[in-house]
Amino acid sequence: MAGQSKSRAGDLRLWRNARLATMAEGSAGLGIVEHGAVASRDGRIVYAGPESELPPTLAQGVETIDCEGRWITPGLIDCHTHLVHAGNRANEFEMRLAGSTYEEVARAGGGIVSSVKSLRAASEDELVTQSLPRLDALIAEGVTTVEIKSGYGLDLENEKKSLRAARQLGEQRPVTIRTTFLGAHALPPEAKGDKDAFIDLVANEILPSVAAEGLADAVDGFCEGIAFSPEQMARVFDAAKAAGLPVKLHADQLSNLHGAELAARYGALSADHLEYTDEAGAAAMAKAGTVATILPGAYYFIRETKKPPIGLFRQHGVKMAVATDNNPGTSPLTSLLLTMNMAATLFGLTVDECLAGVTREAARALGLLGEIGTLEAGKSADLAIWDIERPAELVYRMGFNPLHARIWRGQ
Ligand code: NIG
Ligand code: FE
Repeated sequence: MAGQSKSRAGDLRLWRNARLATMAEGSAGLGIVEHGAVASRDGRIVYAGPESELPPTLAQGVETIDCEGRWITPGLIDCHTHLVHAGNRANEFEMRLAGSTYEEVARAGGGIVSSVKSLRAASEDELVTQSLPRLDALIAEGVTTVEIKSGYGLDLENEKKSLRAARQLGEQRPVTIRTTFLGAHALPPEAKGDKDAFIDLVANEILPSVAAEGLADAVDGFCEGIAFSPEQMARVFDAAKAAGLPVKLHADQLSNLHGAELAARYGALSADHLEYTDEAGAAAMAKAGTVATILPGAYYFIRETKKPPIGLFRQHGVKMAVATDNNPGTSPLTSLLLTMNMAATLFGLTVDECLAGVTREAARALGLLGEIGTLEAGKSADLAIWDIERPAELVYRMGFNPLHARIWRGQ
């Protein structure tokens, strides 16, 4: 995994006198352990469970932290962001306040393409410098893994620059970064309206080159009227498959092009947004094991009124992740705690669904469930320790951060 070198080996650590929300699959609700302890060795969890059942070998001569009854959850995971970008689009926010819609702004030459201009003008180091404060805001709330997409470069050089900047962020901070190549995000001006030719470039040249350099952990696309059709996205997904990379999709955000079904057909890790997804889409996702990533920040910020079909996802057993979608156009949001509040308030997710959405299900949406997302032996010792009385407080508050400590790979 990228950045593995940052973890220091050797030491055994014990967090005791804690209440655990293990989020372990199959346990009821949050997998709560009232009098719990977590032990880690070499950055991995070696025990998470009742303190009374802690193996004696893990209790002696180890660095012990008394959590004084605080809650421990898995480190939070933001599984959908466009965190590496340059400048901002506050001007478009003002246009929308004056009555324009997101699509109108995009069609008038604003939108993603204006962020492309800014990103192309920035150096890799400038991108890192501009993105660090956003990453730090997430980290301050107990986030230990962040997915970052490209998609504001839209040519070989600038897509690579974004992905390298994202990797650099992971070297500069104690956090796991997963990168996603989003070349099929929008049509750059030099493509002169020829979407098919641009998709050829993305699928046949940019994607293979990005993959060959190991710059991306997954491939994403924007399937929408203002972006690319399902047929065009399928060509990108075929190229991803050929390169051995898993796929994800911005699907059914502004209209129903049956992106959810397309994602499911390709065994996508996740389909994201999904406001316009119908029952056939939900059923296909359930069958494929594709996670529904819910992005209430974008829904809120563009004042969408159609909600994602949470009831259908529950009914069909589609797993739901929750993420910030941090980006300059539709979700300038850097709080995963506030995102949970929005998912609950706007979409009716339960507290348990919200917390699973930023831990276990977010890990699943990244294909990392074997590594992170729950407090279980064998996984990375990524923990968030909270000054709260009950887990619902993490979802309930708006703009308050009760993080006591954050542990990344045991440190
Ligand atoms: O996730 N939907 C497409 N992509 C982003 C928006 C990007 C932008 O407007 O800059 C999203 O909402
Ligand atoms: Fe997005």
